[in-house]
Amino acid sequence: MARLLINGGNRLNGVIKVQGAKNSMLPILAATVLCKGENVIHNCPDLADVSSTIRILRYLGCCVRREGDTLIINADKMDRDDIPDTLMREMRSSITFLGAVLARTGRVRLTFPGGCELGPRPIDLHLKALRKMGAQIDERHGVLDCTAPDGLSGAKISLSFPSVGATENVILAAVLAHGTTVITNAAREPEICDLSDFLNACGAKIYGCGDGVIVIDGVDELSCTSHSVIPDRIVATTYMSAVAASGGKLLLKNIIPSHLNGIVPIFEESGCEISFLGSDLSLNVPKRIHSVKLIRTMPYPGFPTDAQAPVMAMLAVADGTSVFVENIFESRYKHVGELIRLGASIKVEGRVAVVEGVRHLSGAPVMAMDLRGAAALVVAGLAAEGTTEISGLRHIERGYEDIEICLAQIGACIKKV
Ligand code: UD1
Repeated sequence: MARLLINGGNRLNGVIKVQGAKNSMLPILAATVLCKGENVIHNCPDLADVSSTIRILRYLGCCVRREGDTLIINADKMDRDDIPDTLMREMRSSITFLGAVLARTGRVRLTFPGGCELGPRPIDLHLKALRKMGAQIDERHGVLDCTAPDGLSGAKISLSFPSVGATENVILAAVLAHGTTVITNAAREPEICDLSDFLNACGAKIYGCGDGVIVIDGVDELSCTSHSVIPDRIVATTYMSAVAASGGKLLLKNIIPSHLNGIVPIFEESGCEISFLGSDLSLNVPKRIHSVKLIRTMPYPGFPTDAQAPVMAMLAVADGTSVFVENIFESRYKHVGELIRLGASIKVEGRVAVVEGVRHLSGAPVMAMDLRGAAALVVAGLAAEGTTEISGLRHIERGYEDIEICLAQIGACIKKV
């Protein structure tokens, strides 16, 4: 079993180029089944979740090849409409194939998706919306058998929560539907805009992404395009947290500054200096960061739930007490027990975590339980004195490309064994 060994305590200094966004990549790959011809997707990170999505595409009969960080996908010969349970369970975003395959073939059979265990992760909003668009969904023995006997039709979809996955599924189902779909209280995450930019470049008519109300006029068919995936704002935040916890200076390349609006004020409150120049971000960390009064995770443009764990690891060594309120997922504090093994002082009650900053963490063997929790352990391990050994690396590999290489290049003593 691979593990990460970190000898903490080094100040970190240097440049990291931020990888493409996993959460954009996956729905865009699912969307390629709607297109005719060859799609060329650039800035594709080499991640376990991307490999799992490619396995689904190949299972469905699509041709996929990788050339460096470019993926070339041709779905013209797709000849299946089912996805086996083993592939569905690999990650949460396998559920975006629900809308995509249904729109392409009028039928899809699949099971409930896997992904990080962050408490219950229902898909009721996805199913309700697709039913409203004309899908008949039969749920039996854990299998979702979906058909659209009369095709999918545009509908007014009002989401009770701005779910990222449900918004993506409705967009995917609506681009080839008859008539117009309007999604109110849609998710506004940049990854939704990236998906719609990709689809619009293929001939879709999607308006209003990023605004909360999305209008989609169905078209008869989609062609193909060449698209570059947006940078990963959560990976960017993770590297910023690592440097803020360890001390030093970081230049992040390939970011979109506005995508970090929800996290920059937190770093500034902790005493870090941040400046932007084009698509570069520079972070200058004080001798010791201060605590941050209150961090509440919110849908975009608020503070992202995916950044909660790495930022908590950073504030574990801050001067003073910080309070987190996790509003998106019920059970997203699995990293806390492991941070405590490293010497952090954190108390959790329900959705609230109180982090009393300590001067020093001390290295220990720890176990990653989920993707962003794993990133938090890396951040803490880098700041801790002595050796931290992180097992459960498969979680990190789902979302971070070459994390040990990126961190070693800014001065961390870290290796995969
Ligand atoms: C996506 C991201 C994930 C991120 C999350 C919130 C991907 C692959 N994953 O996950 O990294 O943490 O957005 O920003 O893009 N909900 C329901 N019913 C539903 C759907 C969602 O109750 O049908 C609830 C969920 O349980 C959760 C909240 O809504 O409490 C947010 O979920 P959602 O926005 O759908 O997250 P995901 O798309 O699963």
